[in-house]
Amino acid sequence: MFYVFPDTNSLAQYLAEQLYQRISSQPNIRLGLATGSTMEPVYAQLLRMNQQQHLNLEQIITFNLDEYVGLEPSHPQSYSFYMQQQLFSGLGLNSSQVNLPCGMTANLAAECVEYSNKIKSAGGLDFQLLGIGTNGHIGFNEPGTSFDSRTHVVELSENTRLDNGRFFSDMAEVPTHAITMGILDILEAKEVVLVATGAHKAQVMADLFHSAIDEQMPASALKTHKNLRIYVDPQAASLIPSAALQAI
Ligand code: GLP
Repeated sequence: MFYVFPDTNSLAQYLAEQLYQRISSQPNIRLGLATGSTMEPVYAQLLRMNQQQHLNLEQIITFNLDEYVGLEPSHPQSYSFYMQQQLFSGLGLNSSQVNLPCGMTANLAAECVEYSNKIKSAGGLDFQLLGIGTNGHIGFNEPGTSFDSRTHVVELSENTRLDNGRFFSDMAEVPTHAITMGILDILEAKEVVLVATGAHKAQVMADLFHSAIDEQMPASALKTHKNLRIYVDPQAASLIPSAALQAI
């Protein structure tokens, strides 16, 4: 389940190749996408590969995991902005192909129901990419979130606001709430790849490794998934027993 790579670059390269191959063998793939620093080298590699040999991207549909409440899509820290910068504009995807929850709508509850339904009516997710928070969150599903959850509004924990505060000039600007795909939405993806890189993820990856399936460790829900792979670099893997790691 845990695959360790020689370094962060080779992990990003391998995962980007995997994404490239999935898209080329299934042009109408439904991709679940993640944001965060972890994904930046992966998306950069995917863009590079697509520049060398163009994929047929006309039928691809993407669904992002989450978005802050209260940030316009044009806000540089919104996930919508991140995705445009890191991936969508480079791939030339148009707005009808990409989906993120809207954190600016007056009726957030209706937006949540609609988002989960949209994933279902698109046929569900074929491949879900995930990062992990230092408290074990996936998407923005914080510790204690029900494993039966659908897309919902979350009050961000102080830990998450502090972690993500590095992208904002002032802590007061860090949103207090977000919309996230629920854990059940994530578990319904046919294939899931969770990625963790860097020494700051070592503790949470060890906690995940040792954890029972427990709502206090949101990522442990993935242990029930039949097609899960966890990719780590040596720093993130450093506290996991080496016998449990498969080298790539
Ligand atoms: C955010 C996102 C998560 C992401 C996590 C890790 O809180 N909501 O989806 O996985 O941060 O981000 P990073 O890759 O920057 O460590």
